[in-house]
Amino acid sequence: MKTTLFRTTLIAAAAAILSTAAFAQTGAKLKVGLMLPYTGTYASLGNAIENGFKLYLTEQGGKIAGREVEFVKVDDESDPSKATDNVNKLVKRDNVDVLIGTVHSGVAMAMAKVAKESGTILIVPNAGADAVTGAMCAPNIFRSSFSNWQPGYAMGEVMAKKGIKKVATITWKYAAGDESVRGFKEAFEKGGGTVVKELSLPFPNVEFQALLTDIAATKPDAVFTFFAGGGAVKFVKDYAAAGLKKTIPLYGSGFLTDGTLDAQGADADGLFTALHYADGIDTPRDKSFRLAYAKTYKLQPDVYAVQGYDAAQILGIGLKAVNGDTTKKAEFAAAVEAAKIDSPRGTFSLSKAHNPVQDFYLRQVTGKENKVVGIASKGLADPARGCKM
Ligand code: BEZ
Repeated sequence: MKTTLFRTTLIAAAAAILSTAAFAQTGAKLKVGLMLPYTGTYASLGNAIENGFKLYLTEQGGKIAGREVEFVKVDDESDPSKATDNVNKLVKRDNVDVLIGTVHSGVAMAMAKVAKESGTILIVPNAGADAVTGAMCAPNIFRSSFSNWQPGYAMGEVMAKKGIKKVATITWKYAAGDESVRGFKEAFEKGGGTVVKELSLPFPNVEFQALLTDIAATKPDAVFTFFAGGGAVKFVKDYAAAGLKKTIPLYGSGFLTDGTLDAQGADADGLFTALHYADGIDTPRDKSFRLAYAKTYKLQPDVYAVQGYDAAQILGIGLKAVNGDTTKKAEFAAAVEAAKIDSPRGTFSLSKAHNPVQDFYLRQVTGKENKVVGIASKGLADPARGCKM
């Protein structure tokens, strides 16, 4: 038993030395597995993340820590039932050095499980599943975005402070929706409010009518919601069409109106949301990022583009510290843990569990922008429940 263990350790050590030497001599490319949704309700989110990631790479002259990058792309379709197979193909068949993904919390949990078992570096550029930096946390798993708990909690604080008393919640029934509502409820009830009704429908359904009728009958003071992508567009339009916008104010985590305003039009006007990015931050860092993004893609960036860009920045920080050698996991992690990440959203650092500790902006939709109107929660850290690291 002991001999086998010793031999396995020796083989692993030898492989690490060989791979370092190999890419130093041959200039082996860094293989990045990009697992994102390119179809379905979250397709535009996946594209924005890839754009942001590639913008950073272009700024670095196409190389990270001296290594050219080769992408292996998978459309995960935001389908958790295909996630384990998809991520295993990247790790075992394509032998990627690093995994970047994804948007959907259920798919990200499968990625985190495989990353934890295989030791492959994983950087999550969106999915907020609390467990990724909670019970499933690991030295090789990082997140450039948020935990689902965070924006929900920030909005709960704001709504309680506004003196709102009775709220109904509505969301998709999966980790992102459930955990956003849980975060919201924790802060809102701590601040003296009550959640009087919790409504949900399966992801990615958009048949909201029966639930909107239920909200009208319940007559809460306000509604809190999590929807994103194509589903968020339809929800905001249906809420207004049902006549509820005028009578029961709608609040949300900022995904409700991010990257969606052109399609939502006037139906989104005036909505308040909380998120770690906004329009009108007006720092030199954000301005130069937005200019470069708009020039490259002929599009305005959204929160997903920023998270993709920052996933690449995190990879850059870690890789530079190990001279491009992804086998040096402890040194990679130490560099990222010590870093202040110079993000367009504002500087942030990672918690011990590797989730961003960051400000949440209060935003209001005005003229097709999510304008900053205040700080919903300053330096908010996820509680990382269940993380042993
Ligand atoms: C999620 O599934 O974690 C998620 C998807 C879209 C926006 C935000 C969170």
